[in-house]
Amino acid sequence: MAIKFESELTTPNYWDERADGGYHNLGWVKAGEPLKKMVELAQLKGDEVVVDAATGGQAVKNALAPGLNRGGVIFGFDISEGMLMHSDGSILNRQSLLVSDVCNMPFAEESVDLVTARMVYHNLSPSQIGTALKESSRVLKPGGRLIVCEYVTPESAEAWKHERKVFDIKEPDRNLWTGRQFGQQLHRTWKKGLGSKDTVLDFAVLTQYSVRDWMENSGLPQDKQQQVLDLYRVASAEATHAFNMTFTRDGDTLVDRPFAYFVAQK
Ligand SMILES: C[S@@+](CC[C@H](N)C(=O)[O-])C[C@H]1O[C@@H](n2cnc3c(N)ncnc32)[C@H](O)[C@@H]1O
Repeated sequence: MAIKFESELTTPNYWDERADGGYHNLGWVKAGEPLKKMVELAQLKGDEVVVDAATGGQAVKNALAPGLNRGGVIFGFDISEGMLMHSDGSILNRQSLLVSDVCNMPFAEESVDLVTARMVYHNLSPSQIGTALKESSRVLKPGGRLIVCEYVTPESAEAWKHERKVFDIKEPDRNLWTGRQFGQQLHRTWKKGLGSKDTVLDFAVLTQYSVRDWMENSGLPQDKQQQVLDLYRVASAEATHAFNMTFTRDGDTLVDRPFAYFVAQK
């Protein structure tokens, strides 16, 4: 397969710092349910060319790899070399990893059967989302599929208000979506000539995830971590219900986190 390399790549320090700040220890990254759903939706036969975009610590890539046989291959790429490193500093499966941007994928036209992208679109501007979708369509073979997965906010006004406060502290510039908003935004772009007019939105729930684990591996300063933990303690009854919060005796809060999957075909 022909591979197009991106030559003028700038590696943003933010993600290198996140890699140093414990990202690879985050419980949700390797958690079962969200990965199981990705494997289920991938419907791999075994001989496909698969690309995991913004692969980070390669959790999705490693979950999909066992579904391939000798005729198949899986690549991962990420904008940050730091994210491609193990916490011990070694690069995993170096031969199948590339440093590149979701808006400029290092693959030839119509060369890929499946593109996956988990938890990266929330960092893209609306125009970058359009470009990333176009790039995915460009590299996909006719009939090839795209799966974009994002953590989303439950459909509740109070949950939304709570989440907004949390992310105003944690990551103010990030996109926040309910599942429906996420699916609609991507669908609107995809149906404008990028592939089949029908797309699918599916969900998985990561149950009772520790906010403390999330905070401790977030790279945030201690005071901001505590501010976020405190927000959960004062959440409204509706938000508490929407996230199915459990308050532990040692000050942690466990929440159900929904993940949405946008599935599209070229
Ligand atoms: C939240 S992590 C998710 C990592 C992985 N996909 C997963 O689900 O475990 C976001 C990843 O996107 C990468 N990233 C951010 N912007 C990117 C871009 N424009 N192109 C490629 N990768 C990007 C970051 O370096 C980071 O590894």
